[in-house]
Amino acid sequence: MRLLSDPTRLRILALLEREELAVGELSRSLDLTQSRVSNHLRLLRDAGLLLERKEGTKTFLRLDRPQNGERSGVPAARLWSVLREELDELPEHGADRVRLEGVLAARESDGSFFDRLAGEWDKFAGAFETGRARERAAVHLLPREFVVADLGCGTGYMGEALLENVSRLISVDRSEAMLAEAKERLTRRANGRTELEFRNGRLDALPIADDELDALVAGMVLHHLDSLDDAVAEMRRVLKPGGTASVLELAPHREAWMRDELGDRHLGVAPKEILAAFERAGFEDLALDPVEDQYRPRRAGSTRDDVPPSLSLYVVRGRRPRARNTSNDR
Ligand SMILES: C[S@@+](CC[C@H](N)C(=O)[O-])C[C@H]1O[C@@H](n2cnc3c(N)ncnc32)[C@H](O)[C@@H]1O
Repeated sequence: MRLLSDPTRLRILALLEREELAVGELSRSLDLTQSRVSNHLRLLRDAGLLLERKEGTKTFLRLDRPQNGERSGVPAARLWSVLREELDELPEHGADRVRLEGVLAARESDGSFFDRLAGEWDKFAGAFETGRARERAAVHLLPREFVVADLGCGTGYMGEALLENVSRLISVDRSEAMLAEAKERLTRRANGRTELEFRNGRLDALPIADDELDALVAGMVLHHLDSLDDAVAEMRRVLKPGGTASVLELAPHREAWMRDELGDRHLGVAPKEILAAFERAGFEDLALDPVEDQYRPRRAGSTRDDVPPSLSLYVVRGRRPRARNTSNDR
C-alpha cells in the first residue's frame, strides 16, 4: 500500500499499462527528470510490477499484466487493478497522456518505432477486411478510360477484380447461363464507376470489334479449348496496338476426374504452349509469372474432411505490338 500511495508511481503505472516505454520516453511523458523516474522505477520493479526489455543501450519497460483475465500473484498488482479505475481523479494524468502522444509521435518521426516492430508488424498490426482498400489506391495508376474484357468469364470471378477499376468491362462467355450468373454477381457489386457489358460468344470468334480493348484477361478457360491458336489470334485482333493479354491457367496435372466433373478438355496447359501460341500470333514482351496461389477443385460427393488436390497456377502475358506495320501485324 505504501508503494502505491505515491501519485507519481501511479502515473508511471498508468503510462506503462498503455505503452511500452524507454526510461527517457517515460520521463518526458511525466515531465520529470530521469533520476527521479528511475528511483520510482526501481521500487516498482522490485515489487514485481514491471517487465524489462533491453534493446541496445535502451531499456524498455511495461506493466506486467496477467494474461487472459488471470489474477496476478503480486499483491501490489491486484491493488493497482483497483486503483487504476480512480486515475482520472489525478489532475496530472491527463497532461501525462497528452505528452505521451507527443513522445510516441516523435518515435515515429525518427523511424525507430517501426524499426523495432518491422519483423512482427504484419502479425499484429491487423488486416484489412476485404483487401479492396489496396485496390482502390492502386487503381489510380491505371488509365482512366481502360476498356477490358474477361474472356470465358464464367460466374464473373476474374471480372470482379476489375470491377470499379476500369471504365468498361466486357464479360464474354459461350454459356448464357454462366453469363447470367456473372451479370448477377457484378451488378450486385458495382457502384456505377464501371460500365458493364455481357456478350455471348466463343473465344475463337469473339463478339468484340477489332481494336476495341485496351486489355483482356482469360482466367481458367484455355484448358477448355480445342485450339489455342484460334483463340490467341482473336485476342490479338480485339486488342488495340500496345494492349495486353493476361492468361491465368492451371499447370498440367493428373486429376483426370476433372474432365467429367468440371468439363475440362485438357488437364492443365503447359505454359510453353501458351507462350508459343502468343509468339505465333505476334505478341511481344511475353512473360510467365508464377502465382502465389493454388486452385483446389472440389469433387462431387466429397465431404468436408476430404482434402481437395492443390493445383499450381501461372500467368502468361503478352502485348500486341504498338507499331501497326511490323511484319507480324495485319
Ligand atoms: C472454369 S470456368 C472459368 C470461369 C472464370 N474465368 C473463372 O476464372 O472463374 C470456364 C468458363 O469458360 C467458358 N468457356 C469454355 N470454353 C469457351 C469458349 N470456347 N468460348 C467462350 N467461353 C468458353 C465456360 O462456359 C465457363 O464459363
